[in-house]
Amino acid sequence: MGSKEEVYEVVGIGFGPSNLSLAVALEEHESKESGQPLSAAFFERQPTLGWHRNMLLPSAKMQISFLKDLATFRNPASRFSFISYLHAAGRLAQFVNNQEFFPTRQEFHDYLEWAESSFADRVTYSSEVLSIKLPRADGPADHVEVEMRDTGSRGATRLVKARNIVVSTGLVPKMPSGVARDERIWHSSEFLEKFRKLDQSGVKRVAVVGAGQSAAEIVRFVYDALPDATVCAIMPSYGYSIADDTPFANRIFDADAVDDYYHGTQRSKDSFWRYHKNTNYGVVDDEVIRDLHQRQYDDEVRGTPRLEFLNLSRVDTVKQTGDDVRLTMHSVRNDETYQLDVDVLICATGYDSMEPTELLGELEGHCLRDQEGRFRVERDYRLATTADVSCGVYLQGGTEHTHGLASSLLSNIAIRSGEIADSIAERRSTRQYSAA
Ligand code: FDA
Ligand code: NAP
Repeated sequence: MGSKEEVYEVVGIGFGPSNLSLAVALEEHESKESGQPLSAAFFERQPTLGWHRNMLLPSAKMQISFLKDLATFRNPASRFSFISYLHAAGRLAQFVNNQEFFPTRQEFHDYLEWAESSFADRVTYSSEVLSIKLPRADGPADHVEVEMRDTGSRGATRLVKARNIVVSTGLVPKMPSGVARDERIWHSSEFLEKFRKLDQSGVKRVAVVGAGQSAAEIVRFVYDALPDATVCAIMPSYGYSIADDTPFANRIFDADAVDDYYHGTQRSKDSFWRYHKNTNYGVVDDEVIRDLHQRQYDDEVRGTPRLEFLNLSRVDTVKQTGDDVRLTMHSVRNDETYQLDVDVLICATGYDSMEPTELLGELEGHCLRDQEGRFRVERDYRLATTADVSCGVYLQGGTEHTHGLASSLLSNIAIRSGEIADSIAERRSTRQYSAA
């Protein structure tokens, strides 16, 4: 290996909430272990920290309690808790008086930025990780080389060495099959940026596809923002269904549930999904559902309907015809197809899980897979590898098949990042002990 200074103990790929939480956990681990810092560097392709910025709609609320922040569940005394943030912002008393368990996404974003400001020396922004390379050396690879590109004007590439990498690159936006994005066809993940650029004067009809939280929030926003436009909500279900966040169901997001899932049988894993998928996927918060119903009802009373629900329908194909976007939909009501012309189409059609295969590059061939071709992941979120790789490759996200429903969510990030920090520290101790 080259000079020691070039090697980080931890390289984090992506700097969203998951790796920000890891930065906190590493920092707090350091003070616990005093004097044995775990050197860390994080690389993020965005120019600054941004948590789903294009969905920071004015009234959008968090879908978890403010106590499920970056640190509290692991360390209730952390100086990076949401409560510490409120205290620093001078809003603790007002927050309590407000009696709201679910802050706005805007406020949570402000909290993330506040926490991030303590780690500026460890994060490189505008830096997209392209691939992971294995060193050319005899014996097991005890580090990897991480290749990245400056996404700014320079476009320069850079290599750093890491004894452990933590891949936290987030969900991947999903369009209906065969539908390409363009200036009038958007995915919800690019919504606000595209909406701000839109010449709103000529927009008479907007379609929003999907029956999940993103779709419902966008329908509400567009309806309010474009008072002269008709908004068509296209959904596969009969109507929006409620996101179950009742107390017993919510237990599937507890730290203990990760063990129950991980150590369970395939049948128990299937049960988690079958009975509790409606806590998160294709479902909508009660408040947003009621807001939308009220708007449609008020329109009926006034005799000016402009919110249309095209239910039991899926978008099949989309074509541009002049300035219009023509959708062809399949209705399961009568098994027929029908068409709709709109000025703008927003596909709130969800996300695929994080999939690190491409990013792992040549390292991927050394990662073990299960019978269904999925990555084998240890309980500490480390990918199982062949014996010729001794460095650690950890995942935050993309572990739904091994660690369950909370894998892409915030619910468990404080505990998860603590477990990863502990695992990295423990493996370092073993390494140092073996070398002594
Ligand atoms: P996240 O996607 O936030 O961050 C990944 C980062 O990696 C991004 O900043 C990206 O730019 C970067 N990146 C990707 N590839 C890279 C590369 N090759 N090189 C460098 N950087 C790279 N969950 C929940 O529990 N409660 C909630 O309230 C919500 N709310 C919510 C709103 C919306 C609109 C969405 C779409 C999703 C949610 N979620 C959620 C789920 C969501 O997955 C979760 O809130 C976090 O974003 C997960 O954090 P991560 O850091 O894992 O991913
Ligand atoms: P989602 O829950 O996966 O919903 C996608 C929806 O699109 C589903 O109803 C899906 O139906 C539908 N769909 C897909 N293809 C379609 C097609 N061709 N025609 C018609 N409908 C189609 O995705 P999401 O709403 O973006 O939510 C993703 C995550 O982000 C969730 O965790 C959610 O809680 C979170 N989120 C949070 C907030 C917040 O915190 N305020 C805001 C937005 C999102 P099928 O399932 O039948 O395919």
